[in-house]
Amino acid sequence: EVETKVDSVLNLMTLEEKVGQMVQYNGSWDLTGPASEVGNKEKEERLKKGLVGSMLNVLSVEATEKAQRMNMENSRMKIPLIFGYDVIHGYKTIFPVPLGETASWDLDAAKESARIAALESVAEGVNWTFSPMIDISRDARWGRIMEGSGEDPYLTAKIAVAKVNGYQGEDLADPNTIAATAKHFAGYGLAEGGKDYNAVNIGKHELHNMVLPPFKAAADAGVATFMNSFNTIDGIPATGSERLQRDILKGAWDWQGFVVSDWGSISEMIPHGFARDKVHAAEIAVTAGSDMDMEGGAYEAGLAQLVNEGKIDEALIDEAVKRILRVKFKMGLFEDPYKYMNADLKKNVPYEEHRKTARDIAKKSIVLLKNENDLLPIKSSVKKIAVIGPLADDKDTPIGNWRAQGEANSAVSVLEGLKNTDLKAKMTYAKGVTLGEGERSFLMPLKINKTDRSGIPDAVAKAKDAELVVMVLGEDAFQSGEGRSQANIGLAGLQLELLKEVHKVNKNIVLVLMNGRPIEITWASENIPAIVEAWQLGTESGNAIADVLLGKYNPSGKLPVSFPRAVGQEPLYYNRMNTGRPSNDQHVTYSHYTDITNGPLYPFGYGLSYTSFEYGEPNLSSSELNTGGSATLTVSVTNTGDVKGKEVVQLYLHDLVASVARPIKELKGFEMVELAPGETKNVEFTIDDKMLEFYTASEKWEAEEGEFELMVGGNSEDLKTVKLNFNK
Ligand code: IFM
Repeated sequence: EVETKVDSVLNLMTLEEKVGQMVQYNGSWDLTGPASEVGNKEKEERLKKGLVGSMLNVLSVEATEKAQRMNMENSRMKIPLIFGYDVIHGYKTIFPVPLGETASWDLDAAKESARIAALESVAEGVNWTFSPMIDISRDARWGRIMEGSGEDPYLTAKIAVAKVNGYQGEDLADPNTIAATAKHFAGYGLAEGGKDYNAVNIGKHELHNMVLPPFKAAADAGVATFMNSFNTIDGIPATGSERLQRDILKGAWDWQGFVVSDWGSISEMIPHGFARDKVHAAEIAVTAGSDMDMEGGAYEAGLAQLVNEGKIDEALIDEAVKRILRVKFKMGLFEDPYKYMNADLKKNVPYEEHRKTARDIAKKSIVLLKNENDLLPIKSSVKKIAVIGPLADDKDTPIGNWRAQGEANSAVSVLEGLKNTDLKAKMTYAKGVTLGEGERSFLMPLKINKTDRSGIPDAVAKAKDAELVVMVLGEDAFQSGEGRSQANIGLAGLQLELLKEVHKVNKNIVLVLMNGRPIEITWASENIPAIVEAWQLGTESGNAIADVLLGKYNPSGKLPVSFPRAVGQEPLYYNRMNTGRPSNDQHVTYSHYTDITNGPLYPFGYGLSYTSFEYGEPNLSSSELNTGGSATLTVSVTNTGDVKGKEVVQLYLHDLVASVARPIKELKGFEMVELAPGETKNVEFTIDDKMLEFYTASEKWEAEEGEFELMVGGNSEDLKTVKLNFNK
């Protein structure tokens, strides 16, 4: 039925109107007042003629309604606009940055924060988010690593589906849901050297086995749109890649939504050295299957001309417009273009409830990295605590980058969080040093304090006078995010110096880290007894951290990304190839760096609890598997400590000999179990030939015969193994 409607609209459209649907404008000109600048007036005129398909960054019911009216009341075809925005980890109520939230390994949480973000977005007229970002990212130097789910395709795919379901709900036409975007298609997270926008040089096996699975999962889950990416892959800009967009996404996967370009990425094919000018760029992009041009001006400049000159077939335009109209129909916009502009909805958004959920998700996202001598949870006998560090009373950093309408300085700080508890200890506070200085915003470079040490003596004095020190260090919100790649990933500025000075006078330190990327904390890991990874946890950050520090919540998070010993190890990831020389105790001639221990400081999947878990020997119901058959792997997990706790039981697989060299291990399943002290539970995983599949030398997904290792445990390094044989 939708297809008939789409066709009936398309048949009535002129070429100019069709091209208009493929154009997206940035709306950050004053839509609520008179348009002043010439460029914007021109844009308004085009809007009124129905020559714009979508706008981004138009916020508020008032502004979206005004733009929609300009379009609906003046244009010939009256095709509603959709309004996109980067709602990445919450709209107003801010949740942990996606990398942090993924550390919860909690798919219900990922879905729920997306549902809430959707509700808060539609209350402001926004009905399309450019999220989830599901780029596999394994380089901590890349600033956008905070926006994704880390280095593993299986976990990222699960999160992708949860997010799509959370944003889009059961029915896109439900006015409490928004359309989602799987981005960035594809390879963007593997930018060379971790430098944003840089070239990506990966082969077809890496592409299919590592990069594409989360996108396939999002496509299968019915994500409404895809966004392509800025980078080249093997010399071809993703935006101009026919193989990615037409052959794989729209061909092999038979996905029916539309592809929006990244901001200006069509025109950026000119500096890439792939297109001569905007018209040429438009020709390449539309042929490749990019359906909508985000603020690039290329489609506007070139498409009609290309058709009129017979350089491209109008059928290409029709195909793109159909996809855009299809999404608009599915959203119910043709029935009511103003359905997402409901001022009453805003009044009914349960923001207080949302904060409670934000706290719950934030505490689940925290990862306990170290806890020597059970320094944590903080004992009620502790009389005096010094809370120290540039981020200790920082209400802004936890909001993170890509903060949508999360207000600056609106998070609960750690100091506030601790004060909100029933902790009896006397608390003192010292900032010690400042981290980010001056103006801090999305586009501006961040200045890090490297000289002002004036606060250090006060911090040292307070630390000396306390029984316990809670130090909060890490990254400014604007150290990670788009364009925020860093060559160094240690504690920036004077933070390590502060930590060392405090450590000289008091060894009882709990280090709370706030960061959007894995940071290099080797010294801290060797010298500080307790370390808590608290990412940038959003609005309720301080309360959630206090819940964990006081043991009101027993930490259960696990790292979705490897933490390095040194930046020189990056890109660092657990699902790597073995190489022909994996290890050699006698000689240096094996794959390693000579100046550090091989391997991460903290591996993928790692995270401690206030209790301990013991794994039994895994048991496989049959060590032989045939096509279409299945086996059950069972492992017992026992809580051997004194408190209730949750453990993420992880299953990994290794295909020992294959037509293409396979990673030494790959995550294939996980299960969260909650255990009372002394309790044992059996966790079961079903193993079938689907699980063994990969993109083989024959260029298809299949399982190959032979020997496999199945490994289970609490992180990617601490595993118990059973063998399996697969026969076709
Ligand atoms: O959605 C983003 C994208 O991830 C990076 N470039 C800009 C887009 C719109 O803001």
